[in-house]
Amino acid sequence: MLELNAATVAFSTTGGPIVRAVDGVTLTVPAGQFVVVIGTNGSGKSTLLGSIAGTVRLDSGSIHLADHDITRWREDQRARLIGRVFQDPRAGTAASLTVLENIAVAACRGRRAGLSWATSRSLRAAAAERLGSIVPGLETRLDQPIGSLSGGQRQIVTLVMATWHKPDLLLLDEHTAALDPAAADRVVQATARLVREHHLTALMVTHSLAQAATLGDRLLLIHRGRIVLDAHGAAKRRLSADDLAYRFDRLRSADQLDESAARALTVLYV
Ligand SMILES: Nc1ncnc2c1ncn2[C@@H]1O[C@H](COP(=O)(O)OP(=O)(O)O)[C@@H](O)[C@H]1O
Ligand SMILES: [Mg+2]
Repeated sequence: MLELNAATVAFSTTGGPIVRAVDGVTLTVPAGQFVVVIGTNGSGKSTLLGSIAGTVRLDSGSIHLADHDITRWREDQRARLIGRVFQDPRAGTAASLTVLENIAVAACRGRRAGLSWATSRSLRAAAAERLGSIVPGLETRLDQPIGSLSGGQRQIVTLVMATWHKPDLLLLDEHTAALDPAAADRVVQATARLVREHHLTALMVTHSLAQAATLGDRLLLIHRGRIVLDAHGAAKRRLSADDLAYRFDRLRSADQLDESAARALTVLYV
């Protein structure tokens, strides 16, 4: 379970106003829930995920994950509980290493076993099994440099690495945004399968309203650092991509207005 309590992150820009990128967010995500997060550019989605991963410090509030108060934990300490996949397929993997060597690095992370185990037959078999079960054929690429894979294939290897030890939380920040539509679709289907099969708790930021409408158990719409829509169960299933596009347009027009008018519109229309 992930719990945020009044989590706040404020950035001060030189000469400019203070931006509350995360503005008093209180949120409970039960274990096994797949949460999709959307919001206009600059609404605070990445800062929210960064504050959970430990790349951004909270100014106030707290974060609990799997019965630990992780508010003051460093990023590397949190990485033992949290798997992450970013937008750039090159992030999180080493281009010069083979697919298997990259997976070995993930498999060894935080473990005592040395690299001898990493290159062992059992790891090779496990890696082939996991890759092949998601994308048949990908297991034949184990000994090739990961840099030779397509962006979509590389994101799937990154997903397998991020979920290798079944993390308490999986954070995905627009991890299909840099891919062509067909590859994005394959990566999204792989994500949904991995989350379901391993009963993962996941927060997935997406720019795709179609993905947001069809995927996950719960949808959060973020605006100006706040959760302005939180839909789960039947309410989530009823939301179509068109509904979400309509709400987005409202938020964009609210952004043109002054602060108080914008807040009133947000309350009225979201
Ligand atoms: N390191 C930073 N320093 C100053 N402002 C930042 C920083 N990171 C993000 N911001 C600001 O915080 C707001 C939210 O940004 P971000 O979380 O990246 O939004 P999103 O991911 O929803 O596009 C934006 O106004 C952005 O300019
Ligand atoms: Mg972002």
